[in-house]
Amino acid sequence: MNSEAILELEGKRYSLPTVVGTENEKAVVISSLRDQTGYITLDDGYANTGSCQSRITFIDGEKGILRYRGIPIEELAEKSTFIETAYLLIYGELPTHAQLRRFSDLLTENQHLHEDMKHHFEGFPATAHPMAILSAMINASSCFYPGLMGRANKERFEVHAARLISQVRTIAAFSYRKSRGLPIIYPKPGYKYTANFLHMMFSEPYQDYELKPEVVKALDLIFLLHADHEQNCSTATVRMVASSQANLFACAAAGVCALWGPLHGGANQAVIEMLQDIHESGDDGSRFIAAAKDKNSGHRLMGFGHRVYKNYDPRARIIKAACDRLLNTLHINDPLLDIAKKLEETALQDEYFISRKLYPNVDFYSGIIMRALNIPVEMFTVIFAIGRMPGWIANFKEILDDPKSRIYRPRQIYQGPTLRHYVPIDQRG
Ligand code: SDX
Repeated sequence: MNSEAILELEGKRYSLPTVVGTENEKAVVISSLRDQTGYITLDDGYANTGSCQSRITFIDGEKGILRYRGIPIEELAEKSTFIETAYLLIYGELPTHAQLRRFSDLLTENQHLHEDMKHHFEGFPATAHPMAILSAMINASSCFYPGLMGRANKERFEVHAARLISQVRTIAAFSYRKSRGLPIIYPKPGYKYTANFLHMMFSEPYQDYELKPEVVKALDLIFLLHADHEQNCSTATVRMVASSQANLFACAAAGVCALWGPLHGGANQAVIEMLQDIHESGDDGSRFIAAAKDKNSGHRLMGFGHRVYKNYDPRARIIKAACDRLLNTLHINDPLLDIAKKLEETALQDEYFISRKLYPNVDFYSGIIMRALNIPVEMFTVIFAIGRMPGWIANFKEILDDPKSRIYRPRQIYQGPTLRHYVPIDQRG
């Protein structure tokens, strides 16, 4: 029997139910609060507010734990692949051979964009940010599938999900090629997901890109580590849009826009730009750390801090180790990696960061790997979006499958002018 919460307001006592999750997280259920008391709750940035009960991802921010459907991220990073993990997130279990084969076949069958989509790419200036192209082209692509429109139907979900995961990679690669004035490279049947992305990004009509196993594995790991992360800003956005019964592609396009912000997925691009600034200034990072601690500087130590993790982000630890492995294998000596490690070492000994429990997050080292793979910095957040697609789809599916799902519609406390009346313009002084 869960305990009850007792609330005393204006001399009256109210009893509110509570709920306890499988990992012993606790919540006060306030669904009846306004009816009982006339009060709502207010929680800036939703830092203390749960929007849903979910079975997909568990994070313990204090201990630095991350699990997809109960499986620790460390085990998946070591033993799984991005596509196998995508299946786990979306359908709840690791796939059998037959299930994985069918999922891979659906990805292959749905990897091409409608040929008329090429005209849309022509419409973008070469300088268009790939995240703007990605969000626009996800919606544009959905127009070629009438079955996608309207209330998402469960029968077609499997195909729509595979099409989105597959096409987001094709759209990303095409937008990169367009931005460089390069001919479009079509996906190759028989190539696995991540290898095909690298092929579409870097092959030439006259010569295929050399797929080094350690390069493919490093990018596949980046995708896997970004695949889901509970109710982060972009996933909460996807759920918000899904709650209105908008179609899957519309929800994903909204997620891309939320992810773009530098406080969220855009941080990986901001981290590299920060490291490059430090490198070019000849600073050892100490000036930048000082600025990051100064509220008035407008600077933050990008890639540091997290709303939930008050410990080292387990993904950052895995990516940092992968950086060392990949750069050693490719014989790359990136000064930005040395600067990043020095910044981390300095910050983790600084009272400002220690007292606020600010640690490296997933974005702090991920850009180093992407640089080593010759992915341009403006594509970093697109890589994050490709990785996060399965998590967004899994959260969309939770709403689709919930017969009691309601439209998300938060309340507010109004602080504007009280009642007043229209004044004709000649009387407005
Ligand atoms: C992602 O939610 C997710 O799960 C996101 C994500 C995912 O997988 O989906 O993990 C991906 O978005 C990772 C975060 C990427 N963003 C950055 O690296 C940008 C830099 N970090 C911050 O802006 C910040 O830490 C946030 C946005 C990540 C979290 O912000 P919060 O929880 O709102 O924290 P806050 O802004 O209230 O900061 C608390 C204190 C403040 O100081 P005080 O007012 O207490 O004196 O910590 C300070 C902040 O000024 N602070 C920082 C800082 N982050 C927080 N100071 C300097 N540098 C930083 N990076």
